[in-house]
This record gives sequence, structure tokens and C-alpha cells, in this order.
Amino acid sequence: MDDAFARLENIEKSFSTVAVLKKVTIGIGRGEIIGLIGENGAGKSTLMKILSGIHEPNSGRILIEGRERRFRRPADAKAAGIAIVPQEFNLCPQLSVAENVFLGAEPLTRAGFLDGAAMRARASELLAELGVRIDPDERISRLSAAQKQIVEICKALAFDARLLILDEPTTVLTPVEIASLFALMRAVKAKGMSMVYISHKLGEVMEICDRVAILRDGELVHEAPTSALSPAGMASRMVGRELSEIYPEPAPARDEVLLKIEGLSSPGAFSGVGLELRAGEVLGLAGLVGAGRTEVAEAVMGLRPATGRVVVGGAELRLGRPREAIAAGVGYLSEDRQGSGVLVAFSVAENETLASLPAYARGLFGPIDRRREREAAEKWARLFSIKAASSEQRLEHLSGGNQQKVSLAKSLDPAPRVLIVDEPTRGVDVGAKREIYRLLRDLAAEGIAILLISSELEEVLGMCGRVVVMREGRSVGELAGAELTEEGIMFLATGIKEGESA
Ligand SMILES: Nc1ncnc2c1ncn2[C@@H]1O[C@H](COP(=O)(O)OP(=O)(O)OP(=O)(O)O)[C@@H](O)[C@H]1O
Ligand SMILES: [Mg+2]
Repeated sequence: MDDAFARLENIEKSFSTVAVLKKVTIGIGRGEIIGLIGENGAGKSTLMKILSGIHEPNSGRILIEGRERRFRRPADAKAAGIAIVPQEFNLCPQLSVAENVFLGAEPLTRAGFLDGAAMRARASELLAELGVRIDPDERISRLSAAQKQIVEICKALAFDARLLILDEPTTVLTPVEIASLFALMRAVKAKGMSMVYISHKLGEVMEICDRVAILRDGELVHEAPTSALSPAGMASRMVGRELSEIYPEPAPARDEVLLKIEGLSSPGAFSGVGLELRAGEVLGLAGLVGAGRTEVAEAVMGLRPATGRVVVGGAELRLGRPREAIAAGVGYLSEDRQGSGVLVAFSVAENETLASLPAYARGLFGPIDRRREREAAEKWARLFSIKAASSEQRLEHLSGGNQQKVSLAKSLDPAPRVLIVDEPTRGVDVGAKREIYRLLRDLAAEGIAILLISSELEEVLGMCGRVVVMREGRSVGELAGAELTEEGIMFLATGIKEGESA
């Protein structure tokens, strides 16, 4: 394609001896949105890291507007007009939102000083375009995962990019924020900006992309206009086989209440939240970003100050004591796997057994039994098809989706009675999602009570028989049976009926 803005030709990349990309050729037209899809570990992020100067290829060429370029570092790609919103956050937690947006390209006053006012004003403008209310002076460390994602997007839009790469930008966003992001993408596309959109949400790919490229095991296996594809067709080309039904049949809930929350409040986050979760049940907790869902989970786990009552299997927990919550049999998968979920510098096996270390010690306080740890890791790798060179590999070298699977294994390793999972399939491919849903169903069938916090309505509807909806720190309603629909959830979550305006 001659009018391509960017073209990658025969790109090859290996890490040590493992070939991750095999002669990939792809063109990206001006004002075109390309969907890049494939299983976890297929090589999507690696390919885009090459185009944005984070990695250098072993061989192959990069052409920008027909001219060959060599990107040795991210600044080279940036100078050529390429911006990337990375899959894993890349923000400085101690700096403010505005400082992060302009990091390395701070506006200066005429006297040459940092122009703080201009920085804040421009950051506010960008945030408003994305339709979110975030204070430009807020520290990054105080933001939720979704808010951090939005700051990453602003950071990429803050300079005049010609090509914007979005690596799974919507995994932590709710439908309302996704709609604002898509509106913004359409607006910048109309101005001629090209985009690469990586996602495991095939419905979104259908909606926003002009063309779709499919990677499998480092090879480009298919490329077609979106109109020539269906989500099912994309899924089967990604995994190389037909996938049957994604959501397994639910088993009936039992009578025994395993988790009871009464009048739970946490200053500044939520107040007066109550719910009951039964053995064998998968209860959904829905709401917009910032509604307080994650904070409720953190309070139950003793990770944030709270008042009220949390009863697990009949015994009341003393609040603010994470060890007590774990000892009472509550397993937890946090939404922010980098922030509090896993340790990226540790190996796959070490992470999985992190929450249940005493169970792997030889005798009381003894050294860790590495063989048992390895056996456990092998079990989880088989169960979730975790793609890693070995269980000794450091987590930071795994693809995003595979890190998520390790993080889920960690929350399951102590064999909990109550399991709280916050965005469990974030960044996971369709095949592995199906495995995770099956596993959650099997756990429920064994009598474990599961609280599923998810922004993906399809997942909530597919998995939950009952859903509690939160808005602005309060539980505003509960839906089950015929009332449990996408519209029903959105109405409670936003307080707005479809067709009405805010
Ligand atoms: N720095 C690295 N060192 C070693 N191996 C790596 C490194 N970066 C990536 N890999 C490996 O390359 C393969 C492709 O990873 P990549 O992150 O590109 O996958 P992906 O398609 O983006 O997957 P996901 O959907 O899970 O994000 C994986 O097997 C991963 O473990
Ligand atoms: Mg990736």
C-alpha cells in the first residue's frame, strides 16, 4: 500500500532463543484504525513496542511515509509522530496527573521556567475531551486503575502524534468511558490520525476498527476489512479452532450465607453498603468506575479503613486485618495487578504461592519446598494454559494476559471459601476467558461463594444470577431474573434512562 502512513516489513524478533515475531508485514493507512488481535502471548505488544521504539527488531524494516527509519529508543519514534498507550501503566506515582501528561515535554514560560499553569490548563482540556472528571493536581498514586488508563491516553494525545497505538486501552474502563474514548478516536481519525487498536474485546474491535489483523504465534495469519469478519470468525482464527459456548451453565446457589456485609462504610469511598453472598453463588458487583466497588473489596480484605460488619462463614472479621481475612478463607484478586496483585520481579511460581507461603514451607517456619511450589505452578499453567518459558521465568517477561492468569492463580492457591475477583479476565484472550469462566463455575459448584466485580456487562450477565449495582459510593439496587439486563444495570449505575440526557 503506497499511501500507508507506516509500514512494517518482515519484522522478526526473538527473546533469547524464543522467536516471538516471524516475518510480520503490515501497513497502516492514513486515518485508518487497524484492530490487532490474537491470543495472549501472540506477539501483539511486542510488534507495537518495535513500532514505538521500545524494542529493536532482529531483522526487517520500518517505513514511515515511504522512508525507512530506525528507532533506537522511544524518543526516535515519538519524533516520527508515533505515540503509544502501553498495556502496562508507565506513570510516576509520586507526580501529579498534569506532570505525568507532560513528562519530558513540559511547557516553559518565556523566562524558561516550568509553566505549571499552562500544563494544568492543557491537561484539564484533554481530560474534558475524554469526558472524565480528574483533578490535574491529583497524585497518580491516588487514582484508580481506570483513571490511570485515562491519564496514559492523555499523555499520548498531548503531543501531535500522527499514529496512536492503543494497547488494550479499555480493559479497566466501563461502557460509559469506552463510549467517550470511541468518540474521541473517531474525532482524531477524522483529522487524519492513524491508529492501531489492540483488544481482546472483539465486539469493540468490530465497532471501532476499519480493518483487522490477526496474529497467531508470532505470524500474521489473517488480514481483512472488519465488515468481512464476525466476532466468532475472529475468535476461531485467533485460536486456530472453533470455540463452543463461552459461558457455562450455572449450578443453583445453596442456602448457607458465606459472606455477609452490613452497613460497611469507608470514609471518602463508600457508605452503608450491605450484601449477602451464598455458597455456590456468583454474585455480580457492577457500577461505573469510581462507584466504590473495588474499595468495598479492599475493605472486606482489611486493606482500607472501614466501619461496619463483615461476617465470613458465621464469624465476624476484625476490620483492617488482611491476614485475618485470608485466614478466614477469603481469596482476593485485585484489579490493579501491578499495584497490589503480583510482584513482577519474582518468578511465575513464586507469585502463585505468595498468598499461601506457609503451606509450602517444610515444617513450621522452614524453608520453602521448591519442588512442591513447582508442582503447584505446573498445575496452574496447565489449567489456564499460561504461556511462559518456565515457571522460573520472571513475571515482567510474560505477556499482559499471562500475567493476569498468574495473578488469578495466586488468589486461588490458598483454596478459599469466599472468592472476591476484581476484573478477573482483564486482558485475557477469548479462549482463556472461557477457561476462567469454567473454573469459576466449577468452584461455585463445589460450594465456594464468588463475588465478581466486573465492568464488562456481557461477563456479568453471562456469569451472575444476581447483581448488586453501586453508584457514587452506595449500593443503589439489586437485580435478578427478568430484571437482570444490560439496560437495567446501566440505569442503576448511571441513574439515567436510555434516551434521557444528563
Ligand atoms: N522482554 C521479554 N523477555 C522475554 N520474553 C518476552 C519479553 N517480552 C515479551 N516476551 C514474550 O514474547 C511473547 C509475546 O508477548 P507479547 O507481550 O507481545 O504478547 P501479546 O500478544 O501482547 O499478549 P497479551 O494479549 O497477553 O498482551 C510472550 O511469550 C512473552 O512471554
Ligand atoms: Mg500485550
